[in-house]
Amino acid sequence: MAHPILEFDRGREVEFNFEGRRIRAFESESIAAALVAEGILTLGWSPKRRRPRGFFCGIGKCSSCLMTVDGVPNVRTCITPVRDGVEVRRQRPLGELPKAPPPEAKAGELDVDLLVIGGGPAGLSAAIEASRLGARVAIADENVRPGGQLIKQTHKFFGSRENYAGVRGIEIARILLRELDGLSATWLTRATVIADYAGRSHDVVVSTPEGPWRIRADAVVVSTGATENMIPFPNNDLPGVMGAGGLQTLMHVFGVVPGESALIVGAGNVGLILAYQLLQAGVDVKAIVEIMPKIGGYAVHAAKVRRMGVPILLRHTLRRAVGRERVEGAEIVRVDESFRPIEGTEERFDVDMIVLAVGLTPSTEVPRQAGAAWDYVPELGGPVPIHDPYLRTSVEGMYVAGDSSGIEEATTAMLEGRVAGAHAAAELGLRPDRAEGVIKEALRQLESFRSGPFSAKVVRGKQRVWERAREVIG
Ligand SMILES: Cc1cc2nc3c(=O)[nH]c(=O)nc-3n(C[C@H](O)[C@H](O)[C@H](O)COP(=O)(O)OP(=O)(O)OC[C@H]3O[C@@H](n4cnc5c(N)ncnc54)[C@H](O)[C@@H]3O)c2cc1C
Ligand code: FES
Repeated sequence: MAHPILEFDRGREVEFNFEGRRIRAFESESIAAALVAEGILTLGWSPKRRRPRGFFCGIGKCSSCLMTVDGVPNVRTCITPVRDGVEVRRQRPLGELPKAPPPEAKAGELDVDLLVIGGGPAGLSAAIEASRLGARVAIADENVRPGGQLIKQTHKFFGSRENYAGVRGIEIARILLRELDGLSATWLTRATVIADYAGRSHDVVVSTPEGPWRIRADAVVVSTGATENMIPFPNNDLPGVMGAGGLQTLMHVFGVVPGESALIVGAGNVGLILAYQLLQAGVDVKAIVEIMPKIGGYAVHAAKVRRMGVPILLRHTLRRAVGRERVEGAEIVRVDESFRPIEGTEERFDVDMIVLAVGLTPSTEVPRQAGAAWDYVPELGGPVPIHDPYLRTSVEGMYVAGDSSGIEEATTAMLEGRVAGAHAAAELGLRPDRAEGVIKEALRQLESFRSGPFSAKVVRGKQRVWERAREVIG
């Protein structure tokens, strides 16, 4: 069936080999998405107990799709595009190193004022502001398509007009990319930053399919986003248990709907919006279960989902996933005031997907490797680099912005990116007077956006981090 909003530009048809089988796919797809579209849900097995593993995050962050591609083990197939004739094998259970040494890799080098790590809304905004102020900017993103999580968000944004209220996330990504196109930033896609050796400047190691790159930058903005959370329950590793973002990637980036019926865990905005998006894709959404006594997301989203016939079961949790090779059902249970399951209240749904919308954890590997001070801040989703209101970390010339500085929203990610990009450029002596105006305005908008009751928790977390920053950064 046609999607009511999206049109998929699938590109040329290609064929690849999967364990002796020819699979037809489109060149715009990732290997994992092409396999799921063929009904191949087991992408590998767990190393110890040999349990089947399937697609979970879809953005290269969970390792459940590691496969051997053209003899190279441990390739993240969810962010690797299909190519004509490529050889794909599952690992049983671990990959083997190739017998022959790999061909000599071509290494790249680059020298820039600012390196932005991650091209989501935060990174794109940082790159735009810094480029506008005259900085030589490079952006490295490990995905094939730039735009971060925006490229799968089909709903319209809230907030103010200056921050794209009423515009769909996918369109915001296009606007930011068009803006950046007119500036002279250098893009590296399928480029994973694996280390930043920070001294007086930043010596950054980037892994790309062609070989390693070395980028020397006076400043870096880390905008690497977040990882989806998992929760403990029996069979939580069965193929068919997916993260909300992973499922959105399959449906909205690749046009693949991997099942017919779903149970969603978590009634925050992500769970609510996803329920609606699944219904749009023709999936039977049996229920949303939420362990808390109230809905975490906006009332308007909850009302819409309920109107469409999806029950939101508060004070309920998932007891187990049912199935052997893939999800065949979900057992839920009511919980008491202390969140303990109430025996005898179990209920079973026949579903082939269990979707977890249970929060995100900031991706902070790069700042932590570089030695940035960090703290565990539950209000911001977990470990975050200590940063001040200008997004400076304790490492000279290193900034964080967006979800990697604390889980929030795409709008605040863009605003933080603008502050970090402009501040970094000003510190390098590039039009500091103009930068000051940009920073002041973005900080004003951030404060206004965070003044509502939904942001109270984040504001508490940010204030704790800023206080620590006074001790750590000065
Ligand atoms: C399922 C889901 C639904 C959401 N729904 C909404 C919503 O409805 N409204 C809303 O406002 N927000 C929503 N959000 C949150 C919003 O998408 C994020 O807050 C926002 O995208 C954060 O922007 P970011 O730039 O910090 O990170 P991201 O958009 O995640 O971008 C990070 C980028 O960094 C890249 N990257 C990561 N590590 C590396 C590395 N080592 N090297 C190179 N590149 C790297 C990634 O490929 C990615 O492109 C949702 C998030 C999820 C996961
Ligand atoms: S790393 Fe590919 S699904 Fe998570």
